[in-house]
Amino acid sequence: MAVTYASYLRLDELLALQRPDEGEQEHDETLFVIIHQVYELWFKEVLHELDFLMRLMRENDPPRMLHTLKRILTILKVLVGQIDILETMTPLGFLAFRDRLETGSGFQSFQFREIEFVLGVKNARVLDRYPEGSRHRQRVEHRFRSPTLWDAFLRFLVANGHAVPSAALERDVTSPIEPNQELQRLLIEIYRTSPAIQSVCERLVDLDEGLMEWRYRHVKMVERTIGTRRGTGGSAGAAYLMNTINRPAFPDLWAIRTEL
Ligand code: HEM
Repeated sequence: MAVTYASYLRLDELLALQRPDEGEQEHDETLFVIIHQVYELWFKEVLHELDFLMRLMRENDPPRMLHTLKRILTILKVLVGQIDILETMTPLGFLAFRDRLETGSGFQSFQFREIEFVLGVKNARVLDRYPEGSRHRQRVEHRFRSPTLWDAFLRFLVANGHAVPSAALERDVTSPIEPNQELQRLLIEIYRTSPAIQSVCERLVDLDEGLMEWRYRHVKMVERTIGTRRGTGGSAGAAYLMNTINRPAFPDLWAIRTEL
């Protein structure tokens, strides 16, 4: 059979994935389901591009690294922008079907955790949310144990002749990225002497800031929709989320700004 638009994109399968079915759902539930599914599709694409970016770092290919970073950052803008759509849902509109989520929550998004882990936001406790041996747990565990984008970036610096401190190169990749003053001195030097690498660093800061921007918009949306109620995922809700906002993934790139 000839390929068509619908067959290539598997549209019948895609459009059958929105549950509950028409007629059995609250009006705003369609938006809620679709927006989460769209987020997950973009998360899939972001992971695909982050993997590619790490490969390009290993291959020492700055022009394509910058191109890929631009794509990821553009997607991130869309991810932040989508919150505006969800904010057209009123608190009562959401409460009409919130019980249906039971204990389901974005908290459990394994792709979001994979993105955090690739960016170096590592936290072993996250793993406990997925049953041992499950496919989702295996995915998240694999990312947890793997080197991060930052580790790939440090090796890219080495490939370009920069003396990255061994403590940074040999860090435990299952830990969050700790600030390293020796590395910061090197980054300051790089900012002053290597415009191409400086551009890569600035795009990494954009990425870090973009994720924080998403977190901020998400928590404000949560506050305006459910106030200070607890989350369906079992956390304190907005109070928990506020605590996650100001934790940069790449602390060294923020620290050097005071000295530049
Ligand atoms: C009415 C809309 C939404 C509400 C009221 C809401 C509420 C919450 C709450 C209360 C939490 C804290 C965990 C918990 O106890 O459940 C949370 C976490 C989270 N939500 Fe949402 N959310 C909404 C929409 C979204 C959307 C559209 C996404 C996109 C995927 C999303 C992704 C996440 C993620 C990834 C977390 C984990 C954040 C972290 O642990 O740092 N949420 N959400």
